[in-house]
Amino acid sequence: MSFYTTVLTLLLLAEIVMGSCDTKLECSLLSDLLEMSMKQKSPDKGCQCLSRTTIPAFQSMLTKPQTPGDKGVVKFDKVVINTQNGYDPTTGVFTAPVAGVYQFSYTVMSQDGKYLVVYLSHNNIRQQTTWLKGSSHETGKGNMILSLKKGDLVCVKSSGSYTINSSNNLYSSFFGYLIAQ
Ligand SMILES: *[C@@H]1O[C@H](CO)[C@@H](O)[C@H](O)[C@H]1NC(C)=O
Repeated sequence: MSFYTTVLTLLLLAEIVMGSCDTKLECSLLSDLLEMSMKQKSPDKGCQCLSRTTIPAFQSMLTKPQTPGDKGVVKFDKVVINTQNGYDPTTGVFTAPVAGVYQFSYTVMSQDGKYLVVYLSHNNIRQQTTWLKGSSHETGKGNMILSLKKGDLVCVKSSGSYTINSSNNLYSSFFGYLIAQ
């Protein structure tokens, strides 16, 4: 239903109800509601949201175990989406195509009974760290919102020389997207 149709319907409804509303309070509540709905959306502005073809957004998965080495970048190799090509699967690094506030998230699985320590890196500065060791496979996640300048670098790095487990079942992954410019 278009904006105009909605407003017209509301007006019509209000006419009918207002004609029959018997207390002053009912009538004034109705006209307040009408006024609110008219102000809600100015029809010439439209949606300010980002388009699916231009929003910087990537999602990449790890298809097999990887041991990046201490401070090595995890290269999530299977790209699922990479609008604006900010993520490079050959380096594992995301380069911000535009400045803005971004959300990043990773999921990693440790090997059977082994340690795994990874962290999100922003321009080579360590951010949130995930530390795992259990009796079996453990899965850890990191989630962060970062304010980036154009060209800023974000990736997942290994701390210590541990193996991130994954397989064709895609247990480990990394994604990020622009929230607002
Ligand atoms: C990696 O994960 C899979 C699935 O849970 C598991 O079968 C495999 O044994 C794991 N590899 C190691 C070395 O832990």
